[in-house]
Amino acid sequence: MWKPAEKILYEPRPGRWPSADEAARARLFQPLTAGRLHLSSRTWVPAMVPWRATEQGDATGEVIAWYRRFAEGRPGAIVLEATGVRDIPSGPLLRIGDDRFIPGLARIVDAVRAASGGETRLFIQLIDFLAIRRRPDPETFFQRYLQVTDRLRAALGAEHWSEARVREHLSTLPEDSLARVLSARELEALRFGYRERVTDLDRPHIAELPRSLPGLFAAAAQRAERAGFDGVELHCAHAYTLASFLSATNTRSDGYGGPREARLRLPLEVTAAVRAATGKDFVVGCRYLADECIAGGSGVDDACAFGVAFARAGMDFLSLSRGGKFDDAKQPAVGWAAYPYTGRSGYECMPARHSDAFGPFGRNVEATARVRAAVRAAGCTTPIVVAGGIHGFEQAEALLRDDKADIIGFARQSLADPDWFEKVRSGHGDAVRLCRYTNYCEGLDQKHKQVTCELWDRESLDAPEAARTSDGKRRLLAPRWVRDVH
Ligand SMILES: Cc1cc2nc3c(=O)[nH]c(=O)nc-3n(C[C@H](O)[C@H](O)[C@H](O)COP(=O)(O)O)c2cc1C
Ligand code: SF4
Repeated sequence: MWKPAEKILYEPRPGRWPSADEAARARLFQPLTAGRLHLSSRTWVPAMVPWRATEQGDATGEVIAWYRRFAEGRPGAIVLEATGVRDIPSGPLLRIGDDRFIPGLARIVDAVRAASGGETRLFIQLIDFLAIRRRPDPETFFQRYLQVTDRLRAALGAEHWSEARVREHLSTLPEDSLARVLSARELEALRFGYRERVTDLDRPHIAELPRSLPGLFAAAAQRAERAGFDGVELHCAHAYTLASFLSATNTRSDGYGGPREARLRLPLEVTAAVRAATGKDFVVGCRYLADECIAGGSGVDDACAFGVAFARAGMDFLSLSRGGKFDDAKQPAVGWAAYPYTGRSGYECMPARHSDAFGPFGRNVEATARVRAAVRAAGCTTPIVVAGGIHGFEQAEALLRDDKADIIGFARQSLADPDWFEKVRSGHGDAVRLCRYTNYCEGLDQKHKQVTCELWDRESLDAPEAARTSDGKRRLLAPRWVRDVH
């Protein structure tokens, strides 16, 4: 992963922990009611993909156990990992593109309800993504994948060559010559692997996205409601389809790209379709970027405008993330696909312990606070969720007190210790296992391996309840918290 040049090492800074009485009075542990959203506390576990579904996209016993473990900490809400709205093969990622997925998802809902005593609300993040291929080895690329076009022949001065000769010749060219003759997209396909973009209007299924996506998201949200979820989070963040529509890099010429209002059009049409397809109490929120953190991307001013539009469209919450784009991702090894959390924007999304002068804690706070202020100035009360390096009670409480956000997201901190919420609420903050922001978990995610945390995945490996990863080397769940009764 990309690291800031300064590489200053930061240790977690949780500050003072509250007593149980202080916690009971704290803003963080007060209920929140805003429109359809009812939370028992202002704590939130943002979506995190744990790589535990089947290759067919079904929930497994391991997926259920994973969310049950988070629910034991009784956060105000958990957002289930990014779950595909289409019924297409996409590896061991959860899917909701067909009714057959409903029973498996309903089992997760039941487990979360039971483990949290009904205290934790459960939302599911709905995602659509475009095709991305692995970086090919050059030989296969020139022989099989590259189309020999008239443009390419002209660039090579090879108008009259056979196709086989063109392919052979390309295999012999050095990098700088290839950079001269291949188009930017061909070069990208060679160096990074082919990747679709929302601006590929020459591809019918991409041109049709404004017609196909509202129905896909609406049907997925209906299934989520039937499975018993409290609501959905539309994934409009990071490197995925709806985020790409919002991006300032979206230059579609069909009324769904270019100016801000046009870039917002499809996400708003999806929202309207989801709302129309679901019940009056069903929560519909979204996650999007406070800042894309890429050259030429959308910035905080865009995020403020998007926030106001989403709030006016009736979103029940807005969860702000940042970065996580393909645009500045590192070149993958041959045989691997590009990963949107490897460049600078990826660092902004999941800031790690080696950082710059600002550090990894709260990098998204000021941008999120600006979005919240814009939404409030427009007369909307939509709750705003912030995340990014938050691990201490004082830090979280200050964000609420200073009106920077309404709900506090703890992603990696709750992976490091799913009992954070119970421990802090009951005056046992000093028993919290603090996230060290090493991004070991994120490295596993990148390799599509079952995600665990290095703080606990080798602990008591022989304990009877310690189910292990497929290679047998790591435990799958954080050890149970045994309360100190003294
Ligand atoms: C293993 C892992 C998987 C993640 N998967 C998702 C995801 O499915 N959807 C999403 O919006 N963000 C995802 N994220 C990003 C987190 O939700 C969160 O925004 C980010 O980690 C920063 O918050 P934190 O500093 O509290 O961890 C993931 C993060 C990690 C570490
Ligand atoms: S592996 Fe654990 S300690 Fe390291 S960043 Fe992930 S959650 Fe935090």
